[in-house]
Amino acid sequence: MIDDITRIGAEAPGRIAAASTLDELRAVEAELLGKKGELTALKKGIGALEPEPRRQAGLAMNEVRAAIDAAVAERRAALEAAERAVTLAAERLDLTEVVGGRERGSLHLVTQTWDRLVDVFTGMGFTVAEGPEVETDWYNFEALNIPAAHPARGMWDTLYVDLGDPETVLLRTHTSPVQIRVMTDGEPPIYAVMPGRVFRRDTADASHMPVFHQIEGLVVDKGISFADLAGTLESFTSAYFGGSIHSRLRPSYFPFTEPSAEYDINCLNCEGRGCRVCANTGWLELGGCGMVHPNVLRNVGLDPEDWTGFAFGFGLDRLALMRHGVDDIREMYTGDVRFLEQFPA
Ligand code: PHE
Repeated sequence: MIDDITRIGAEAPGRIAAASTLDELRAVEAELLGKKGELTALKKGIGALEPEPRRQAGLAMNEVRAAIDAAVAERRAALEAAERAVTLAAERLDLTEVVGGRERGSLHLVTQTWDRLVDVFTGMGFTVAEGPEVETDWYNFEALNIPAAHPARGMWDTLYVDLGDPETVLLRTHTSPVQIRVMTDGEPPIYAVMPGRVFRRDTADASHMPVFHQIEGLVVDKGISFADLAGTLESFTSAYFGGSIHSRLRPSYFPFTEPSAEYDINCLNCEGRGCRVCANTGWLELGGCGMVHPNVLRNVGLDPEDWTGFAFGFGLDRLALMRHGVDDIREMYTGDVRFLEQFPA
């Protein structure tokens, strides 16, 4: 009996070491220690022995079982570690891998446009401000001289946020609310540009996205005139697009500016001669502008007798589109690498 127990105990380490997977180890463990295992079978015979041999067989049995238990546990830990290493190696991501000669990513076209616009305007002496994308009705409309139920609200298809009283919190439909924030947070003279993301209840098509970007400009100082607005936009136009591109202003309407204008530039495709891109007009519409409405100045506690100013706002995505001759705005947001890598930066 004892001989059998010691023999099993002596063979066990080799058998355990031979198990090369966790499944094999489980099988070996069952053969040695399991209900139908070899030691269990011997154990049943121990009871029939004389007291002294029974005691010795029992001791040997316990020792051998404990040694096998320990050896199995050790082998299991080793096999588990090995298996984990295999899994980790299989799931490993090489973040330095170079795919198809593409060495690194680049800034998105919208980000590049944003950065360049900010560069040009800071070069002209403007500061940069930003505001929240979730706004209240006050900043997006009221303070901008657009009272509730004013027909001009129809100019912006608004996405409201389900917060507070109905239609009091919204996703800003333009960057103009940042004008209000800049004027309430600081004192004139103000020379600021405000780039940002804006939202409208629009279905995506070649020229619309429900989420897009604008850059707003605001100047408030003493004796600012419409000529300053026209001159600033013309300087910006040549600084950004190059000396051959000029600007013009056409009468328009915005509730927060008076007088208001549309800001056009020479067609970037034909430089003003007339082509398909500009519908033969020679001009492309970039955005809106005008003299800050006296009501807007009053709404932020500025006296329109002391201060005058101008504001402008235009679509950043649209500008990027025109500058690079992209004919569908949705291209910018599909994340298709073949599109994106045409604009390395
Ligand atoms: N906020 C206007 C729009 O989104 C553009 C604009 C800005 C017009 C500033 C005038 C002055 O349509």
